[in-house]
Parts: sequence; C-alpha cells; structure tokens
Amino acid sequence: MPDRVRVYEVGPRDGLQNEAGVVTTDDKRRFIELLAAAGLREIEATSFVSPGAIPQLADADVLLPSLPRRAGLRYPVLIPNERGMDRAEAAGADAIAVFSATTDAFTEHNIGMTVAASLAAFGPVLRRAEARGWWRRAYVSTAFGCPYTGAVDPDDAIDVAQRLLDLGVDEVCFGDTIGVAVPRQVATLTNRAVAAGIPIERMAYHFHDTRGTALANVAAGLDTGIRTFDASTGGTGGCPYAPGAAGNLATEDLIYYLDASGWDHGVDLAGVLEAGRFIAGALGRPVASKVGQAGGWDSATGAAIGRG
Ligand code: COA
Ligand code: ZN
Repeated sequence: MPDRVRVYEVGPRDGLQNEAGVVTTDDKRRFIELLAAAGLREIEATSFVSPGAIPQLADADVLLPSLPRRAGLRYPVLIPNERGMDRAEAAGADAIAVFSATTDAFTEHNIGMTVAASLAAFGPVLRRAEARGWWRRAYVSTAFGCPYTGAVDPDDAIDVAQRLLDLGVDEVCFGDTIGVAVPRQVATLTNRAVAAGIPIERMAYHFHDTRGTALANVAAGLDTGIRTFDASTGGTGGCPYAPGAAGNLATEDLIYYLDASGWDHGVDLAGVLEAGRFIAGALGRPVASKVGQAGGWDSATGAAIGRG
C-alpha cells in the first residue's frame, strides 16, 4: 500500500450547503483559491442541484467558470440529474460526483427517488460524462446509518457501490452522512467490500464528526488500506439531521493527524488553517475545528502554530 494519502476537500460543497449563512460568490472563489494554495488538489467546488433544494450553492453556474484552472487541480461538482449535467457542461466542468444512498427513505427525502430510481437516473448522466472523458465519483450516503430507518447492513452499502461501479464511476465514496460510525464498522465495511471484489484504490471514505468519531474512523480506514479521505476546511457543514452538531471531519484536524503520523499528502497545514479562518469569517462564526482553535503544534519548540 502506498504511504501517500489523498485528501479530497468538500468544504465548498458539503460544508457550505449545510451552513445557514450564504457566502458570496467572490468569497467562495477566494476560499477555493486558498484551498488550492494550501496544496489541496481535489476540491469539490459546488453543486448543480435545484437552487430551491440548496440555495447556498445557487451560484454554481457563475462560480465554476470563474475558478483558476491549473494542471493537476480538479474541481468535481455534484450532479443530481441530466439538468444538472447540462448546467455543468455549460459551466466547463470536467469532473463530477453523483450520489445515492443505502435506503429508499433517505434518497426519497434527499432527491425524491428510490435508490433504484436514482441509479437508473444516473446512468445517462454518467454515460455523458464518460463520453467527455470526465472524472467520475459516486457517493454512497448513509453507508453506516440512516436518519429515518436506523442501522445499515454493510452489504447494502456494498451492493449500491457495486451498482455505481458498474455504471462506470472511477471511485465510490462511502459517506457516514449522520456521523454514527465507529472504527470497527469501518474495518468491517472495507474488508467486506474488498472481499466482494471492489478494488481498494477505488474506495474513499467521507466521515462526519457528529459524535466525535471521525478521526478514529480515518485511522481504521488507513489500517484497512484506504488512502482517500474527504474533509471540510474549517469544519463547516453541521448536520441537517442534528441541529447544532459538528459537521464534516475538518481538513485541518485530518492534516494534523496525518502529519504527526508520518503520512505524505502534499497539503500545508498553515495554509488550511488560513483558509479555515477565512471561511469562518465569511460565515460570521468561529472556526469549527479542534486544530483550527488550538493551532498546529511545533514539536521542536512546543509552541502552537497557525492559531487565528
Ligand atoms: N438544476 C437546477 N434546477 C433543477 C435541477 C437542476 N439540476 N433539477 C431540477 N431543477 C428544478 C426544476 O426545474 C424544478 O423547478 P421549478 O419548481 O421552478 O419548476 C424544481 O427544481 C423541482 O424539480 P423536479 O424535477 O420536480 O424534482 P424534485 O422537486 O423532485 O427535486 C432534485 C429533485 C434532485 C432536483 C432535488 O431534490 C435536488 O436538487 N436535490 C439535491 C439535494 C442535495 O444536493 N443534497 C445534498 C447532497 S447529499
Ligand atoms: Zn457529508
């Protein structure tokens, strides 16, 4: 297994879509520029979903074409349907993420379809993206638990992931949407997915820190060979199913952990802390991450570093 970890930044999309405050297009662009300057190379930039469903990201058509492009920097965008694909094409996208989940109850609430209907709807979207040579990711949301039906059997998550891989996605990302997973479940899911034939390098994890287990889950993922993890700079996101609860795993918390553990990842903690302070300021609230509040730590001197 390679010692390099891919950090897939979701702050501009998953983070901001769950914040009550709406950030201006200019501030979103500045945030994304700071993330890229910190060394993040995959930044999920926005969603081409219904602006009625997610008003926070209604400016996607303007934001995406305005982002600075450079080799090796990818801005995937979330797509719910062919209408979203039309908009993404017009805005110059070249990488997309689609999303299903493990239970009909969740997909009905989120996108108004059953799991089976969502998979059918993504077929044409993914074929169009493939024909254009775009990179394609798919989320399996509620991979560990559903806010409407409770515990999820790992085999159900694996089944949805396999159907999405059959539709030609490059990567499946298992999402702990409501932040209920613990490390033992992560190990079980990885091991069963591998046993079911899913290539480990095509799997990613997306943890929310709702109950304080996100970094422990990353550790379990690393132990089982997973090398791609999602995170949201500034710990933005919250949880729409648990008002007031912590949001996505914060990128700065993940980078601190990876640095101190000796993993190579290419991301600069000080740069992430700067981007986290910027977006918290734009949202008008304190940084919602442990390392954002405490700062990093200089092991040569014992001093905190990068504290806002
Ligand atoms: N972009 C912009 N507008 C869209 C759209 C898209 N991709 N897809 C649908 N719409 C519009 C329709 O034109 C319609 O507009 P109108 O009310 O002005 O006529 C409205 O949204 C509703 O569309 P409809 O086809 O009836 O679908 P719906 O109401 O069942 O909504 C989704 C389905 C998927 C479009 C909507 O639930 C959605 O965007 N969900 C995204 C949720 C999300 O992003 N969750 C977080 C990710 S985990
Ligand atoms: Zn999420």
